[in-house]
Formats: sequence, structure tokens, C-alpha cells
Amino acid sequence: MHYDFDAVVDRHNTNSAKWDFCDKFFGTKDVLPLWVADMDFRSPQPVIDAVRRVAEHGIFGYTGIPQSYYEAAIDWMKRRYDWEIQKDWFVFTPGVVTAINMLIRTFAQPGDGIVLQTPVYYPFFSCVNNNDCRVIDNPLRFENGQYVMDLDDLEKKIDERTKMIILCSPHNPVGRVWTRDELTKLGVLCLRKNLLIIADEIHEDIVYPGSNHTAFASIAPEFADRTITCTSASKTFNLAGLHTSNIIISNQDLRERFQKTLTRCAVHSADPFGIAAAEAAFRYGEDWLRQLIAYLQGNLSFMTSRIEKRMPQVDLIQPQGTYLAWLDCRHIGITQPELKDSMIYKAKLGIEEGMPFGAKEPGYFRLNFACPRATLQEALERLEKLVISR
Ligand SMILES: Cc1ncc(COP(=O)(O)O)c(C=O)c1O
Repeated sequence: MHYDFDAVVDRHNTNSAKWDFCDKFFGTKDVLPLWVADMDFRSPQPVIDAVRRVAEHGIFGYTGIPQSYYEAAIDWMKRRYDWEIQKDWFVFTPGVVTAINMLIRTFAQPGDGIVLQTPVYYPFFSCVNNNDCRVIDNPLRFENGQYVMDLDDLEKKIDERTKMIILCSPHNPVGRVWTRDELTKLGVLCLRKNLLIIADEIHEDIVYPGSNHTAFASIAPEFADRTITCTSASKTFNLAGLHTSNIIISNQDLRERFQKTLTRCAVHSADPFGIAAAEAAFRYGEDWLRQLIAYLQGNLSFMTSRIEKRMPQVDLIQPQGTYLAWLDCRHIGITQPELKDSMIYKAKLGIEEGMPFGAKEPGYFRLNFACPRATLQEALERLEKLVISR
């Protein structure tokens, strides 16, 4: 089936966080929203059909996880990442951020250190802070046009109370798809320093040609033994509102301890829509995904050439994966705090500024390009007007 990603679907008045709640975040409704990490595309038809079947049944009672769901998810990991996982390794949570909060609560004590590789998806900071732990900031280094991990810095910063690292792989917002070699070096250091790894691999499926996602836990049994992998069909198939995620833990002790925390908070029920949608996505969504990636790649080249030709003052850090672009706007001739306001009130762009992600200086923005090309074109025209107005 051919999917038309150019189709503009009006998301206004659907309670969309991205479209209907801009005023809460930006202080105005009058922005073109390219912020929250969901997509302005409809999910694959088999997913919509699966959700419709649940809706039409009309009874939305408590729900369990069927064998067929496990099979579909296990098969997905095997087929795409050559990672063999087992049914009893699954723990279900209504979201990856929920899982990370609960993992910290399970495996760290107040005051313990948790490593973040900044700039990074900013709810990680809240996960650490919510649980009275300390962020150990291990900034990524920018080298030859891309971000890399700084393991020397990490090694120096780990103290006796540093318990874990939250690895973002692929990385939001800088779009790195970490190589097997980079991940292996990180893993060896974590082993030596006795760190647990929370591998947030929610963006694993959106990877562009030339890069390959490696499931961290698949690299070596020693890594798997201290890794908790957070996955979901939500980013890949645009199901974030259905709150269904798969946390994969092969180490029985870690899994049981985590499960105990969830049980204490009565986090155990599955969402009938989420389960049906994710299973359909894993079973029948791959063709849609292939077309999506080609479309996103088209968006990326369109944006890259527009920026190079018309706004050379802006630097687009090329993502290898994710549908998020990290823009370096430090040289457009507007300084902070005027720059952030100009993006919102002059360009009328709903894009997120980099400081909350832990950027070390102002002037960076994250732009979500999972939208029809016409929307992206409109956004780039707005940005260009702002840039040339200087
Ligand atoms: C790296 C990363 N982890 C987690 C999430 C959110 O996951 P969830 O909606 O399952 O809590 C996002 C959403 O943007 C993300 O980028």
C-alpha cells in the first residue's frame, strides 16, 4: 500500500499536546508547532484498523497481554536487530518516562549519581531530580560535524555513588545513531565502574541509510546482565498517546526488583488500544515504516539544502536517526534572550530551545521534521525571514 505523507491532516481540536497546547509551552497559540516528538502523520492502516476493531467492540475493560503480542514484539527485535529476547524478559509500563522514573526509584537512593550525556531529552533531568538523585553531566563533544561520547570525562566523573547511566540510543536531540564500537567502549567502562545502564532505545527504528541501530544489550551477555532496555512502538508508529511500552530486562534479579516497584504503585494494567495497535504495528507496519523513513529522509535533504542555500548562518547538525534536527543558530546575529522570543513571536515557530536539554550555551533549537513537506517548507520560510531580517 502506498502512503501519502504529503497529506496535511488537521490536528487542531484533537487535544493534541503539540497543536492544541502551544500556549501552555510557548505562551501563545500563534506558532507553527514543530516541538513535541510525535508525528503529523496517520499511523499505518493496519494499526488504525486494529484500533477501530477494539473501539467497535465497545467494551474497554481491564486488559492482559496476549501471547500473540509477545510473538510480534520478539519477532520485531529479532528481524530488525538480530536481538533474541524472551517473553519473560518483558515488563510493561505506560511509557518510557514512567519506566525511567520507576527504575531510578528501584535502583538508586536519594543522593546517588546518574549519568546523562548532554544535550539530551530533558525529561531525563526531571526523572533524576524527581527521585532526589544527582545528575552527573557527561557532555557530548562536538567533533568533525557530529557529536561523540566523551568517555574520559565520564570516567573522571564517576564517583562511588554513581549508580547508573541513562543512554539515549539513538540520541535525542542530536540524532546520533551510536556505532557498535562506541557502545562497546561505553559498555566496557560501565562494567568496570559497576554502572547499571538504562538504554532508552525508543527511537531505534527511525534510522537513515548509512547507519545501523545496535541494541546495547545484544552486544555481550555481560552488558545484557546490567542493562534495562526501554522500547516502544510509540515513536516509530506514532502511538505515543496509547501509553504502551516494553521494558526488556534479561537479568531476573533486576527484573523482579523493578516489577516490585511497579506492583507497589499498581502499575500493571495494559491499555486495550495500545496493545492492539502495537501488535498490529509490529506485525504489519514495516512497509509503512520503510516509506516513512524515505519521506523523512526527503524532508531532511529538503531542509538541508534550503538552509545551506538561504541561511548559511544556521548550522543543521545532520541526524543519523530520529526525526529531530538540532539547529545551531548561534550565528544568526540575534543574541539571547531575544533569540528565543524572536523564534516564537517574530518567526512564529514552536520549536524548543536547547538550554533545557543541557546545551552549554544558548542558540540551539530542536526542530521536529516529522510533518508534511508543506508544513516544513512553511517553517523554513518563517525561519529564513527571521534570519534575513538581521
Ligand atoms: C528519548 C526519549 N525517551 C522517551 C520519550 C517518551 O517516551 P514515553 O512517551 O513512552 O514516556 C521520548 C519522547 O520524545 C524520547 O525522545
